[in-house]
Amino acid sequence: MNKADRQEVRTTVIIPAAGSGTRFGASRPKQFVPLLGVPILVRTLQAFEETDAVQNIVIAASPDFHAPIAELTAEYHLTKIAAIVEGGKERQDSIFNALQTSISAVSDVLLVHDAVRPFVTPDFIQTIINSAWEHGAAIPGLTPKETIKECTEAGLVAATHERSRLRAIQTPQGFRREILVAAYRKAQEHGFLGTDDASVVEFAGFPVHVIAGEEKNIKITTPLDFAWAEFLLR
Ligand code: C5P
Repeated sequence: MNKADRQEVRTTVIIPAAGSGTRFGASRPKQFVPLLGVPILVRTLQAFEETDAVQNIVIAASPDFHAPIAELTAEYHLTKIAAIVEGGKERQDSIFNALQTSISAVSDVLLVHDAVRPFVTPDFIQTIINSAWEHGAAIPGLTPKETIKECTEAGLVAATHERSRLRAIQTPQGFRREILVAAYRKAQEHGFLGTDDASVVEFAGFPVHVIAGEEKNIKITTPLDFAWAEFLLR
């Protein structure tokens, strides 16, 4: 794919931001908690504002937060938010709602990126878009540092998987639009529930390409993650 082709790939990022953040323990969902003065969600959105490779942003959020997001959009001069849709009960429902927007329908590549991963970089976003356009589906993954064991409910080891073949999967995950739409339609028909978008695409039978993730691209889930994020920013 040459540069000219790449510039013609219209890309929309879907940001699921409808989680309640129960593992974080704050009074409001963690994506709205300020990280060194700027809400985590805004920092994440700014990463996509910074790159010409992404033209539109669709956010899924609970209706209570639509007005606050609109206020943040004005306060931080965010220009790419094309739609704010209702979040769903599960993350997958939030993405499904975002896929119904007209802006998703006119995109070549759709990215999905957690609201709580503010350290994604413009270069990395471009890498995922290129790979998604080339392969149909591309996701970032890191080889775990720890040994990973599968356990039974009773807490016994059931299997130890070969670490070199395992990946801890991050976002942004990138897909050609028609693949992601077809996969979500199939998952809905069959009641399949995955933990990320790639698992929906895998369920639908499409190959998913894994590329090297970035260690700094952390998902802020716990108070310790938040402390790490402050450290990384400083
Ligand atoms: O809950 P989890 O950590 O998997 O959330 C990942 C992302 O999905 C977060 O940005 C969260 O706000 C979002 N989410 C959502 N709708 C839900 C649950 C989570 O948009 N029902």
